[in-house]
Amino acid sequence: DWTTGNVIEEQVAAIREQVGDRRAICGLSGGVDSAVAAALVQKAIGSQLTCVYVDHGLMRKGETEQVEKDFVAATGVQLKVVDAQERFLKALAGVSDPEEKRKIIGREFIRVFEQAQLEIMQEDGPEVAFLVQGTLYPDVVESGGGTGTANIKSHHNVGGLPDDIEFELVEPLRQLFKDEVRMVGQELGLPDEIVQRQPFPGPGLGIRIVGEVTKERLDLLREADAIAREELTAAGLDRDIWQCPVVLLADVRSVGVQGDGRTYGHPIVLRPVSSEDAMTADWSRLPYDVLSKISIRITNEVKDVNRVVLDVTSKPPGTIEWE
Ligand code: XMP
Repeated sequence: DWTTGNVIEEQVAAIREQVGDRRAICGLSGGVDSAVAAALVQKAIGSQLTCVYVDHGLMRKGETEQVEKDFVAATGVQLKVVDAQERFLKALAGVSDPEEKRKIIGREFIRVFEQAQLEIMQEDGPEVAFLVQGTLYPDVVESGGGTGTANIKSHHNVGGLPDDIEFELVEPLRQLFKDEVRMVGQELGLPDEIVQRQPFPGPGLGIRIVGEVTKERLDLLREADAIAREELTAAGLDRDIWQCPVVLLADVRSVGVQGDGRTYGHPIVLRPVSSEDAMTADWSRLPYDVLSKISIRITNEVKDVNRVVLDVTSKPPGTIEWE
């Protein structure tokens, strides 16, 4: 029988068997998947696990603090934080192609991990031989790992794995769908803000900027995203929508009029969707007054944005993310 208790018991036993008396590291992305995977592994092997949080500068507002404070408080996990913002910005400079961005972010992530692993290995203790990943069943299927379906996007949680990876993978969520992961997380005692968080892609805001990723654009998108999330939460819509990517069309400009003058700014796209498992999705029919409020606030409060548009495409044909 499928119960969260059984899943946890089974996975804890499997993780203990796989890892033995060696050590593992786990990348926390700020999302539900890596948090639940880490909490499961923490339950199985305790202090043999060290979590690593790479601050790649592509997170949404407040998410880094949530990992550093709330997750640690809930699990007691050992956490190493690496500030790699400069490194990611440098690696992404001049790059607009979505797949190239994904590959760069994935590659840099692993490099930073390897560095963190070296540092952790230099501490006293057994060999660090394992990398924990929060790969879910839909990720496995869409990447062609489970059923032989074609690769749609190079999906990853801590990044597309390069050839020189030195870790053996621990993937305790490989058989689970998102709602099941949430139930497991709740059973493990993780706070609601983490368990109920909407899915957020590993490459973060890097794939929500259509065009080159720069610090200035990231800051701008972070503000717009925070406003959208705040208003959706205030309207009580968090449980009705699966996720709402907020996308900056950095390569597009349109004419507007704000204050006394003509502006030539960027559009922000709202992409609210409802879905069961992210394999297919329908665009969410959000109330007009909520959309209106978000639009007014974003155009008033976010510099260089003079237009807010709504994506009314289902998946298929559109994917949930724009890149
Ligand atoms: P798409 O855009 O393919 O997204 O319809 C399906 C779901 O997957 C999320 N997504 C990712 N999650 N790493 C992740 O962990 C990724 O590289 C990635 N790309 C997309 C997306 O937010 C949606 O929930």
